[in-house]
Amino acid sequence: MAPQISPLAQSVTLKLSGKVIPNRIYRTALSEYSGSYDENDREPELADGGAGLICFGNIPLHREHLENINNVVLDRDQPWDAVEAFRPAIAAAKSRGALCLPQLNFTGRQCPGFLNSSPVSSSDVQLHYCMDKSYGKPTPLSKPQIRDIINRFVWAAEAVVAAGADGVILHAAHGYLINQFLSPHINKRTDEYGGSIENRARFVIEIVEAIKSRLPLDRYVIAVKINCQDFVRGGATFAEQCVIIKLLEASGVDFFDISGGTYEAPAWRGDLASLGESQPPAGEGTFLRWARDIKKILSRATIGTTSGWRDSERMIAAVENGEIDMCGLGRPLRDEPDLPKRLFSGEKVVSKL
Ligand SMILES: Cc1cc2nc3c(=O)[nH]c(=O)nc-3n(C[C@H](O)[C@H](O)[C@H](O)COP(=O)(O)O)c2cc1C
Repeated sequence: MAPQISPLAQSVTLKLSGKVIPNRIYRTALSEYSGSYDENDREPELADGGAGLICFGNIPLHREHLENINNVVLDRDQPWDAVEAFRPAIAAAKSRGALCLPQLNFTGRQCPGFLNSSPVSSSDVQLHYCMDKSYGKPTPLSKPQIRDIINRFVWAAEAVVAAGADGVILHAAHGYLINQFLSPHINKRTDEYGGSIENRARFVIEIVEAIKSRLPLDRYVIAVKINCQDFVRGGATFAEQCVIIKLLEASGVDFFDISGGTYEAPAWRGDLASLGESQPPAGEGTFLRWARDIKKILSRATIGTTSGWRDSERMIAAVENGEIDMCGLGRPLRDEPDLPKRLFSGEKVVSKL
């Protein structure tokens, strides 16, 4: 009898671009905190480990609006050649057949105060002390400033694609600027970027539309990491996020990485009980119960969810049952880069984390 191929080792094709992800494991975005590149100090293990899709950690689009020190930055006004700077890292990520999607981000009000005490946001709702940091009171973005940020997303997307990436993944989760537009608790605008769901979604939809006008969807991937909900009182709810995800799918988003939480309630760390939600079984995806319902309303896009996956049997069940298409791994791949290969071998694996 032919040996059975693990459901996690089977490829999946992104429908719009036609790009093939060779298996069901992706490395979700993990902030690099290492804004330099050393040819003699590469980390080839990430590609060698076998994940079918590698997302680079969030890349701020403005040098004065960082997520943390030592961020890798893609600022249109920088003096260096972004394409040449990114080419080696993207080549390394793709060297074993994975797709590569760098994550583009604008921090907004979650920019640490010690880096910039005058952040920007959808409106002026200040973030209280959390995640061991304080944050300045944000200035609401004017419409020309919104347009400038959209142009920064486009510029950065074109740069990483010219450097060899398969497209980009937008950071619409975890309380950063796109999330600050989506959230009714933060977005108090009275113009066309605030109020109704359609208005709050306008910023991210305009980013997708602007990117796809330069990078055709039949050749390049636009993916989005997005919350199933914010887990914050007054924040984006699951029902609202479903509407937004459908709008994004209609605009051309080909892949969703489902997460949850903001700095005020960092659900992505996996402790749902502290947020008043029931905890999933050990080793199962933190957001699986929401992601499986989102998959039911999607008509085309591929979907994965990140956080909490530690047990191969839970991952196989979720993919085999068609609840989701892919499993995203963050911290486990930092500690055990060869985990995907071991998952594909059929070995029962429980991450040491
Ligand atoms: C050190 C660290 C950095 C992170 N940086 C990012 C990031 O840049 N972008 C992002 O979307 N999520 C980021 N996250 C969240 C992870 O992508 C992921 O959602 C979270 O770690 C849960 O997945 P895991 O349980 O597999 O680690 C980060 C998490 C950690 C621990």
